[in-house]
Amino acid sequence: MSFTKIALTGYKNYQSEIFYFNQRIVGICGLNGKGKTNLLDAINYLCFTKSYFSKNDALNIFFGAEGFRLEAELLNGKTNNKQTKVACIYRSLKKEFYLDDVAYEKFSHHIGKFPCVMIAPDDIEMITNGSDTRRKFLDTLISQADAEYLQQLINYNKILQQRNSFLKNESFQKKFDAQLLDALDAQMIQPGEYIFEVRKQFCKKIIPLVQQFYKNISGDHEMISLEYNSNLNDNDFLKLLKEARQKDIITQRTNVGIHKDDLIFYLDKNIFKNIASQGQRKSLLFACKLAEFEILSSMKGSPPLLLLDDVFEKLDELRMKNLLQYVCKKNAGQVFITDTHKERLENALSQFYDEVQIIELV
Ligand SMILES: Nc1ncnc2c1ncn2[C@@H]1O[C@H](COP(=O)(O)OP(=O)(O)O)[C@@H](O)[C@H]1O
Ligand SMILES: [Mg+2]
Repeated sequence: MSFTKIALTGYKNYQSEIFYFNQRIVGICGLNGKGKTNLLDAINYLCFTKSYFSKNDALNIFFGAEGFRLEAELLNGKTNNKQTKVACIYRSLKKEFYLDDVAYEKFSHHIGKFPCVMIAPDDIEMITNGSDTRRKFLDTLISQADAEYLQQLINYNKILQQRNSFLKNESFQKKFDAQLLDALDAQMIQPGEYIFEVRKQFCKKIIPLVQQFYKNISGDHEMISLEYNSNLNDNDFLKLLKEARQKDIITQRTNVGIHKDDLIFYLDKNIFKNIASQGQRKSLLFACKLAEFEILSSMKGSPPLLLLDDVFEKLDELRMKNLLQYVCKKNAGQVFITDTHKERLENALSQFYDEVQIIELV
């Protein structure tokens, strides 16, 4: 799959702009604030039906405009010969999303059609911050590979929300409706167990890949390991919910379930984030993202789009060279890569010169 054209109207800093892409590797350069990240985000938007950065679509509208429109043309199919159009229109708080001029009824049906992996500067939070960032990583990967997973996740989150608002609103009332809580518990079991099983299976695939990529990028001899941590490991979900009910009522929220899952990283036997250096953190982030890329490639039968935002700022020259070798040479998919320095970008990509297009934002 490759993007050949994107038109942005009223999207972030783009009032009205069209870009044509005619190569597999697209370098985008320009000074800070010129719109490099926003352009990658627009591409990401058309793959995921949402921005990588802001949940609130109103923030994506060009200041003062009524709404935004993103339209792209792609080559798709096994031999990249099928022309496809994808578009999103957002105005008056309403969003419409189209594939070849047909509107989606459910946006979730689009996820996985154009697989995509983004690596952005703030993603390092995935290594250092709370467990939600790592669940998001897992969910983004698995949802693109397994449409059923995404439906189950949406379903689980809906029931979880209902259960939490029940606990908030009713747990202190005299006529506490335990039966309703029983019913909500029962509804959570099936999606919860499904998500748990699929996450467990994917973690098994991810772990050896992350270890291999970490070694390749960092050259370190330390051993990275990962552990999928879930309440449901060796426990019956319904039993867990029952045991936690008193606590749930007191705290007014659901304390057990796959919404508490985490992925724990170790460096040798230590918790990674407690002892790792900056360089090691970056290497691990890239290793995780490349593992995602690799899994999607093999499950989809062709490589996902790769969006690399400001990666030159994040890795030293040797690590960068290793990374580019992998993502540009051993991969046949389309790659977008941004940098503030035109020359640095051109030099880094020069070894792939006959497949490179450089776009300069001025
Ligand atoms: N909703 C918006 N309307 C207009 N401009 C915006 C909006 N959101 C962000 N911007 C502008 O986009 C610019 C940042 O673009 P960005 O893609 O992050 O630049 P770069 O990655 O090249 O440094 C900033 O100047 C910011 O003010
Ligand atoms: Mg940027």
